[in-house]
Amino acid sequence: MIVRELTKDVFWVGAVDWDRRLFDELIPLPDGTSYNAYLVKGKDRTALIDTVDPTMEDVLVGKLKKREIKKVDYVISNHAEQDHSGTIPRLLELYPGAKVVTNPKCKAMLVDLLLIPDDKFITVDDGETLSLGNKTLEFIYAPWVHWPETMLTYLREDKILFSCDLFGAHLATSSLFAKDKVKVYPAAKRYYAEIMMPFRKVIQKNLAKIKNLDVEIVAPSHGPIHNEPKFIFDAYRDWSSDNVKNEAVITYVSMHGSTRKMVDYFVDSLTAKGITPLPFNLTKTDIGKLAIALVDAATIVICSPTVLAGPHPQIVASAYLINALRPKLKFVSIIGSYSWGGKMVDVVKAMLTNLIIDFIEPVIAKGYPKEQDFEALDRLVDNIIAKHKGCNIM
Ligand code: FEO
Repeated sequence: MIVRELTKDVFWVGAVDWDRRLFDELIPLPDGTSYNAYLVKGKDRTALIDTVDPTMEDVLVGKLKKREIKKVDYVISNHAEQDHSGTIPRLLELYPGAKVVTNPKCKAMLVDLLLIPDDKFITVDDGETLSLGNKTLEFIYAPWVHWPETMLTYLREDKILFSCDLFGAHLATSSLFAKDKVKVYPAAKRYYAEIMMPFRKVIQKNLAKIKNLDVEIVAPSHGPIHNEPKFIFDAYRDWSSDNVKNEAVITYVSMHGSTRKMVDYFVDSLTAKGITPLPFNLTKTDIGKLAIALVDAATIVICSPTVLAGPHPQIVASAYLINALRPKLKFVSIIGSYSWGGKMVDVVKAMLTNLIIDFIEPVIAKGYPKEQDFEALDRLVDNIIAKHKGCNIM
């Protein structure tokens, strides 16, 4: 059980979860994750910033015992989700004098989720500070990154921003700091795409809110710590910006090959005309990779056969997810096939209500695609080119 020092008297006491492969029973974790908790020892008081997933509470408790921490005065809770708060009840048993410090909204959620008694809390306002003696914690409300109660904690003297989920990455690693940027960048982008992207506009505001903070270290609650914060700040500014790339995400399912034939033709045609295709066969794809592709793309084309008069169920599930993730897509179209009829196009369109998008004429083949269907696909590519030329493409 390794306890590591970030700066003098500030320690990482978190847990690395090398084996976890699914989060929220939804999100693939190909690289595991970590739950970062931090111990801040002031001259007069000691604070623990966030805790760990309850499945790994013995790791956190073992590290506190190893450091012979006899007293914790404050447990700072930046976020009520259980992967960071779930070990608070155990810590309150271990340190009965400790108070949970958080904002009123987070307090209410912790009472609901973890049944923590009301008298265990100290609530703080946005901008309020708490002195540990020679170290000062400042609390910064940052609602909706990604729950409504989230806040950040800034350690003034050490210039550390404890950002909880914001700027995090699902990445199990033995490196305390984000040294290997090639490895960290895609993990952080995956995390942004899966967790933060629905709140892109709020993130823009929160980035502006912390812009003038003097930050030397960003210490999130998942993945490695950023001692070169410009790397992650620049990445978040880019991902959350309104700029899109000359890319078309293509989600597809094909049962007997008609839709697949159209997708293959469409991919080739996009490539020949200079648009980057990003195709995802939904029966095989990692939805995290699909989410990453949606961070930057200007266009999505959803491609489905017709099943029981509607889209394939895999298309329905992915359209629901895409709509919930609210990517900054500007254009959408549909490709598909049918044998005797149905309302596939209408059903898919109706599922994309969150996306402010320009709908481009779909291409639907009756049976196996024929010459006129390939010509229609060529027109679709030309339409996408014209649309991309008319907007802010990087
Ligand atoms: Fe890592 Fe929103 O919890």
